[in-house]
Amino acid sequence: NDIDLKEILDFGVNLSRTVGSVILKAFKQPKKIQLKETCADLVTETDQLVEHMIIKAIKDTYPTHKFIGEESVAAGLKCNLTDEPTWIVDPIDGTTNFVHRYPYVAVCLGFCMNKTVKVGIVYNVPNDEMFTAIRGLGAFCNGKQLQVSDETDLAKSLLMAEFGSKRDPETIEKVLKNITSVLTNPVHAIHNMGSAALNICAVASAQAEAYYEYGIHCWDYCAASIILEEAGGVIIDTEGGPMDLMARRLVAACNTSIAQSLSRKLITIEYPRD
Ligand code: IPD
Repeated sequence: NDIDLKEILDFGVNLSRTVGSVILKAFKQPKKIQLKETCADLVTETDQLVEHMIIKAIKDTYPTHKFIGEESVAAGLKCNLTDEPTWIVDPIDGTTNFVHRYPYVAVCLGFCMNKTVKVGIVYNVPNDEMFTAIRGLGAFCNGKQLQVSDETDLAKSLLMAEFGSKRDPETIEKVLKNITSVLTNPVHAIHNMGSAALNICAVASAQAEAYYEYGIHCWDYCAASIILEEAGGVIIDTEGGPMDLMARRLVAACNTSIAQSLSRKLITIEYPRD
């Protein structure tokens, strides 16, 4: 296969910066907000505009490549990952942050071949942090190589977690059970950044030891997953098996020991697959 992953990375980095300037301009402006699946699942016209810009640029440069995009799937396109070169796109990860002007908002571009993530770009726009990775070549933030924390004890960990956008009492009960279970483990803290990709990048950057979530989508973690792995971390299914990009749940951690300890603390919250 003659795809040059370095060229793919450069294309993705440039594209993220281009759409990043559109996001930054809109960041402080009033926004038109629509709801998707629940009253806490938001989308703005900027998410849709930026996804269009990204898909157009990919089609113009790589006409044979496939793509899976958050807002294209919301608009009815299928979420179908094949062996073909495929871009998995989240135009704005952290839409709720974007709406509230909380400055953790990222463009996520993951590039897959044979259903494996090969390149990842997560661009934290308000902070101008460009996280990048190519399989086998390490992970970087603004050119500086990333290395995960060497902590092996979950009780001495700073954890990232997100609680999803469902608001029905049955789901909330399970969400709270998991928080109780983890806090009583115990852990040093649980933080919530409002961007799945940036939570994972925090683990990759040794700013946190682990992260878990149920109800996440493939575009929220595809790009960040390779950044974490290339920084020496692991990302697994919440039940302890290998990461499944379409399973809508994950445990990410600085090492297998913490990932497995955390997964044993969690009860499953069911979501339909992507
Ligand atoms: C969401 C964010 C959030 C996570 C949700 C995601 P979006 O992505 O990553 O932190 O809890 O699961 O869907 O909708 O802002 O792209």
